[in-house]
Amino acid sequence: MYAKRGEAEEDFQKALRRGMIPLVFGEYGVGKTSMARRCVLDAEKQKRLVNIESVAGQSVSDILKRCLETIGYTITTEITTQQTESATTKVTGGVEIPFKAFKASLTGENSNTAGETALQKAQFAVSSPTDSKVIDLCEQHQLVLLLDELHKATPDFVEQITLLIKTYANKNCKNFRIILLGTSSDASRLVRRDPGIDRLLQEIPLKAMSTAESRFIIEKGMTDLKIDIEKSIADKIVKTSSGSPSLVQYLCLEIAEKAFARAPRTASMDDFKSSLTSYVNKRARRLDDLYLKAIETFGQKRYRKQILRAMAEMDNDYVTMEQLCDSITKQLGEDIPSTALSGPLRQLKETTYGPVLKDVERGEGGERVQNYTTFVDPAMKAFIRMKIAGEET
Ligand SMILES: Nc1ncnc2c1ncn2[C@@H]1O[C@H](COP(=O)(O)OP(=O)(O)OP(=O)(O)O)[C@@H](O)[C@H]1O
Ligand SMILES: [Mg+2]
Repeated sequence: MYAKRGEAEEDFQKALRRGMIPLVFGEYGVGKTSMARRCVLDAEKQKRLVNIESVAGQSVSDILKRCLETIGYTITTEITTQQTESATTKVTGGVEIPFKAFKASLTGENSNTAGETALQKAQFAVSSPTDSKVIDLCEQHQLVLLLDELHKATPDFVEQITLLIKTYANKNCKNFRIILLGTSSDASRLVRRDPGIDRLLQEIPLKAMSTAESRFIIEKGMTDLKIDIEKSIADKIVKTSSGSPSLVQYLCLEIAEKAFARAPRTASMDDFKSSLTSYVNKRARRLDDLYLKAIETFGQKRYRKQILRAMAEMDNDYVTMEQLCDSITKQLGEDIPSTALSGPLRQLKETTYGPVLKDVERGEGGERVQNYTTFVDPAMKAFIRMKIAGEET
């Protein structure tokens, strides 16, 4: 089951058609991977997709190898043209980053395709992320390179991938496509913006699912299973899942399982309630324990809880004290000064109450360094929204 993702999905496809590099970013679990995979199904069927599910622990050398393997090359790390196994790449500031050089050869049945064009040499060495022969081959074979979980990339990886994209940009590829995905509310944390690649990158923020998108999943799913679900129950699912596609899916499956066994197949409010309990117990036990430890049971204002709620409902993942004050002032309907919040905020960053939150220092473009607060575990954000929505239903 897949709900189309509106404007973001259209922009994504448009970017691909125009030869731009879509950079999809957004909160944990919001559906980035699903959307991108959905849009490149054709390439996948035709074995033109190079899907790097996570760039964590990968080097750009590994990625080039995967591209060549998809085309039909066999990779050996033995290098004949050089003495050493690794070369280095100079990046901005003259820093040298090692690059694991390798040799690629077309062997066996795959070599039948050799000779198609002069491009496809049977054997060659790759010793740099800017190797233009690899990009030419990717272009010739119309590869789609999907780099997922960019937020887990090492700084070295980011530098080298920037160089690769620059080479790509200079080639004006018509068929080779690159897609970048990462969990962040801020695209500039995922890639290094560089004048050489800026014109090609298209940022595509993916936000929480709209009510219509969530409702589509519920209605389509229940109709397929011939289950009747009252609008009021569907509305509760929409509200509690607060735009998290995996949560909508989970609650629907739990409810459907109960209702399916019944005659007539009608979903009840009890089904909904037990689906929520099941989610907390089976899928989010750890988050729930942590959340309960973090919030206070007594106290008039329950500041720690207010802070977590404000953090969870914030569009941005990196929040300043000022933004917190504004938001909690709105929540409580009375003026809350930062002096009231700084103690509870500090507690949420300590082990006694979690830690659920942490400090991040950021200074961009010569600006002064600012102090931000963010969640230690990004999954906590949607979870807290769910808890709050659950309390309100
Ligand atoms: N458009 C959609 N329609 C229906 N279900 C979806 C949709 N998008 C995502 N899902 C469901 O939500 C789950 C999480 O989605 P996905 O893994 O694509 O999110 P993500 O943004 O890539 O997450 P992460 O930040 O962990 O990389 C999927 O397993 C799928 O069940
Ligand atoms: Mg993903």
